[in-house]
Amino acid sequence: MAPRRKKIYEGKAKVLYEGPEPGTLVQYFKDDATAFNAQKKDVIEGKGVLNNRLSEFFMTGLTNVGVPNHFIKRLNMREQLIRQVEIVPLEVIVRNFAAGSMAKRLGMEEGTPLPRPIVEYSYKNDDLGDPLVPEEYIIAFGWATQQDLDDIVALALRVNDFLAGIFYGVGIKLVDFKIEIGRVWDGDFMRLIVADEISPDSCRLWDVKTGQKLDKDVFRRDLGNLADAYTEVARRLGVLPTNNTTNIKPTLIN
Ligand code: TMP
Repeated sequence: MAPRRKKIYEGKAKVLYEGPEPGTLVQYFKDDATAFNAQKKDVIEGKGVLNNRLSEFFMTGLTNVGVPNHFIKRLNMREQLIRQVEIVPLEVIVRNFAAGSMAKRLGMEEGTPLPRPIVEYSYKNDDLGDPLVPEEYIIAFGWATQQDLDDIVALALRVNDFLAGIFYGVGIKLVDFKIEIGRVWDGDFMRLIVADEISPDSCRLWDVKTGQKLDKDVFRRDLGNLADAYTEVARRLGVLPTNNTTNIKPTLIN
């Protein structure tokens, strides 16, 4: 890529560049896929384009139901303009059904419904492999206050209700997902908003009828072609790039 904007940060799946205005950044979605703290890696052609579109779709929807988030606008196939935030160093995970690390830790069968949505936190630190941490640690170590955590849980549950409904509408079960939260300041007043991305990289998505996995577990567990799974999610949601003829949906007038 031609050098243009100053690179601020490079993560495993995205790059952040300086934005055009103070307080903004450009978020670039790479095709890189990693799992198990980057012990497993591949390049999945088209993944970045799909995740850019999908994250735009979910963040725009969240804005429209009043859930504050970092998204400003999509710039092109791989980039979106976002608000610069100070990332809270936590992965906020919401679970509706047991799966992944929870199923393993507790010896539960994957897919077991949980009595209520469960919110848990991992400390964002690649060297440590993002360890699960209790609220007590978060407050004691000053990563967030009790008030912040109350706000974070409220945000996470609103995102859960919104996403679960959207996915159910297209025949997909939202098993669990991860979000990240950022701080923004309006003068002295600090607010917490949803940041990072929302895409099949950070959700567990199962077809309601068949149980087929349509998320990054396809890559983690070698279950097939990851881009095909993400394309299916995008197709069902009607968010494939417009040159894709399978995306032509009848328009309802009145
Ligand atoms: P887990 O069951 O492996 O803890 O994952 C819970 C959810 O968090 C799942 O939807 C996948 C997502 N996730 C990430 O987004 N990034 C990660 O690094 C990990 C481990 C999980």
